Amino acid sequence: MDATPTTSTRGSWNSKIGFILAAAGSAVGLGNIWKFPFEVADGGGGAFVLIYLVCCFLLCFPVMVTEIAIGRRAHKNAVGAFEALGYRNWRFVGLLGVTSGVLILSFYNVVAAWALGYFVELAGGHFSIGSEFGTFITDVVKIGLYAALFMVLTAGIVSGGISSGIERASKLLMPTLLVIILGLVLYGLTLPHAAEGLRFYLIPDFSEVTLEVVYNALGQAFFSLSLGMGALITYGSYLSKRENIIESAALITLTDVGIAFTAGLLMFPLVAFLNAGDMTDVQGGAGLIFVTLPGAFESMGPGLGAFVGATFFLLLSFAALTSTVSLLEVPTSFVIDEFNVPRRRAAIGIAVLVFLIGIPSLLSNGASPFFTNFVTYFGSDTPNTFMDLVEHLSSDTFLPLGGFLIVVFAAYVWKTENLSEELAQGAPGFRGSALERFIHVCVAYVCPVLLGIIFVLTVLNRFFGVSVF
Ligand code: PFF
Repeated sequence: MDATPTTSTRGSWNSKIGFILAAAGSAVGLGNIWKFPFEVADGGGGAFVLIYLVCCFLLCFPVMVTEIAIGRRAHKNAVGAFEALGYRNWRFVGLLGVTSGVLILSFYNVVAAWALGYFVELAGGHFSIGSEFGTFITDVVKIGLYAALFMVLTAGIVSGGISSGIERASKLLMPTLLVIILGLVLYGLTLPHAAEGLRFYLIPDFSEVTLEVVYNALGQAFFSLSLGMGALITYGSYLSKRENIIESAALITLTDVGIAFTAGLLMFPLVAFLNAGDMTDVQGGAGLIFVTLPGAFESMGPGLGAFVGATFFLLLSFAALTSTVSLLEVPTSFVIDEFNVPRRRAAIGIAVLVFLIGIPSLLSNGASPFFTNFVTYFGSDTPNTFMDLVEHLSSDTFLPLGGFLIVVFAAYVWKTENLSEELAQGAPGFRGSALERFIHVCVAYVCPVLLGIIFVLTVLNRFFGVSVF
């Protein structure tokens, strides 16, 4: 059964490039700029990049294509899409996606607030902010205000609708982001010790590649490409039948990978400059971005350092903003379609709700001992913060589970024949091609098996301390 709705009063993308920039905007985010470079450096440099590319194109790309095809065929939000295709029982997959979107946005917005706060501080020449990071993130009022401001910006864009809100913002933010990142890379490469930074980042070291590295690469690729929660079902539902889904998905994947890679070219020369070429003890994650880098900006001197530092955090804020927009659009589109609520009211209502859900995360970085030491998983004695718990549940667990369910649905319920029919629209020559066979094999076998394994391993490892490797 495949009931295809045709009528539409929903928004739509004005142009192919608008859709690609919006979807690439969703993909390019905090994950690219602070997580990817470090995983590369930790996971064997160039060796990790190769594994990451294989994960993106073999596993993530077919899931992306499937999500966009489901959305475009159904012409509905992530939950309604399953029903519109005739499978009401599968709405739960969309509901899992909407839940993931709300949860991810609740903590992602807090980190985005740090970035925005750092932009303001560094623009004012306040370099010691790096060494005050611990105090900065416990300043609940300040972070609360930045988080509220970030949510207002996000809701403002989503309220504007598809073409005049999300598409317009992406067309402005994404090229600006590209110019900023390239400008910063070029500047970073002129600094002393840039070569040591690049060597640390890129020289392949296959001895560091373990199964765990492969499995981290896959998790990172999945999160980075915004898969598994219906963001691309939703964005695909506004896409015209004239557009080539395969080609668009390839461009989105390439942009995401390209920007993640470039972020490393920016980051490590700066770190090498700060440490005079000594890359033996470089910290990763939040510490790298919010503690180490401000030190590098400071050592450039007051005027230049403030400029380069503020520009870097503007870049991070822009990258986060196009991602928070897509995270808010998933529940917003659900509420608009399913409950007939006007867009503006839906976007603002959900933004307020998500902000409230994010308050425990905001408090969990030192301000409240209860939320800071919130939960200790089985097999571990280190407590996790509330924010960690939400991240582990949503991005590390629900996303791969959602991705697994989406490909199983497409291959065994909706059937690959219907998937192909949708993909062939706007792609003459797709039927009968090797590409079609590749997509079928991935969607029916490779993706369900590998995503299923990842999901089980993540749950065992994260919550029960069982490490299979
Ligand atoms: N892809 C974003 C990042 O790399 O930061 C995060 C994200 C956005 C995940 C939207 C999922 C999503 F639906």
